[in-house]
Amino acid sequence: MTSTTEFPPLQNDLLLRAARGEKTERAPVWVMRQAGRYLPEFREVRKSHEFFEVCRTPDLAMEVTLQPIRRYKGLLDASIIFSDILVVPQAMGMEVLMNPGPSFPEPLDVPADVEKLRKEVDVNKELGYVFEAITQTRKGLEGVVPLIGFCGAPWTLFSYMIEGGGSKTLQKAKTWLFKYPEESKALLHRIAVVCVDFLVGQVKAGAQLLQVFDSWAGELSPHDFDRFSFPTLQYIAKTVRQRLAEAGLPDVPLTLFAKGANYALKKLADESGYDVLGLDWCIDPAEARRIVGDKVALQGNMDPNVLYGGREAIEQTVKRMSAAFSGKGGWIANLGHGITPGVDPEDMRWFLECVHKYSSSG
Ligand code: CP3
Repeated sequence: MTSTTEFPPLQNDLLLRAARGEKTERAPVWVMRQAGRYLPEFREVRKSHEFFEVCRTPDLAMEVTLQPIRRYKGLLDASIIFSDILVVPQAMGMEVLMNPGPSFPEPLDVPADVEKLRKEVDVNKELGYVFEAITQTRKGLEGVVPLIGFCGAPWTLFSYMIEGGGSKTLQKAKTWLFKYPEESKALLHRIAVVCVDFLVGQVKAGAQLLQVFDSWAGELSPHDFDRFSFPTLQYIAKTVRQRLAEAGLPDVPLTLFAKGANYALKKLADESGYDVLGLDWCIDPAEARRIVGDKVALQGNMDPNVLYGGREAIEQTVKRMSAAFSGKGGWIANLGHGITPGVDPEDMRWFLECVHKYSSSG
């Protein structure tokens, strides 16, 4: 296995310093889904390669991961490995298609269906292609910016595995929670165990920060988030840190993006064990900072749709956001969710330029 010393030295550590809570000379900036369909060069690759083929082919995953880094040279402060949260359900034995949204031909209908999942998941065997892509991409980056690894949170993955795709109501996933709470907790834990192995493997392969995406956290009541999602998120942070220490691997910063869980910010800051909390745009930055104090760094949180509002709207929003976040503990500028396919790449550039201009903490 590659040791981190074989990688080129890191030239820009703004992301890592901000994640550790340091005030930085300006905010590091990256964008969720920065390698995505808004980029013509990404659409070009996708013309001849299926989505999961790109994920599974280290050369292609590296190519699309590097696309935004090349295009926005000097403006992006992080890269994120091109993959998907749904590679974990695949590793657990489920079939997942992307056409164009995710779809599972055989979702888990009832608890007995859990028997169909792999009992023991060997992440090196099932997800070794992600580790290879990470090692190769970290080399390909030549130390220009750090590389982020990620996984989906158990509750979000559980929802996809039961719903069989996206859902407006999460009725099936919630039927499980309320009808079969013990079986639900067991499955959530089983997913968390795979997430831990997967995240540790990503650090071993070269990831320099890890982000957990709980995209559906906001669909739960505070009480149910506490019962079903929070314990698995906490378990992942604690166990990943233990395992990294035991293996003598770097103690990388951990980010949690629990979309819509602003109701849980205080508890997440105090007890979840993550260094950085990602915010969606539904909370005011100053309010978020007041709630979390100096316990964690914050990441976010411009509404991605502001990118459709033109230069003036983007500039004013970044200016306001920067004033509210800057100088008060670590801040990583980002959108409040992923960039969407219709954005003009030049408007994305303008967003990045505005962050550079307005975010210096003085
Ligand atoms: O640039 C990056 O951020 C890294 C790559 C990345 C992708 N998906 C690529 C992708 C990351 C970090 C993800 C995470 C992911 N995937 C999440 C969590 C973040 C979030 O958005 O809430 C979720 C819920 C998924 C599941 C998923 N994958 C969905 C719902 C979709 C379809 C949505 C859409 O945009 O159509 C995907 C597909 C997907 N994953 C695309 C990309 C670039 C677009 C599909 C394509 O290329 O055809």
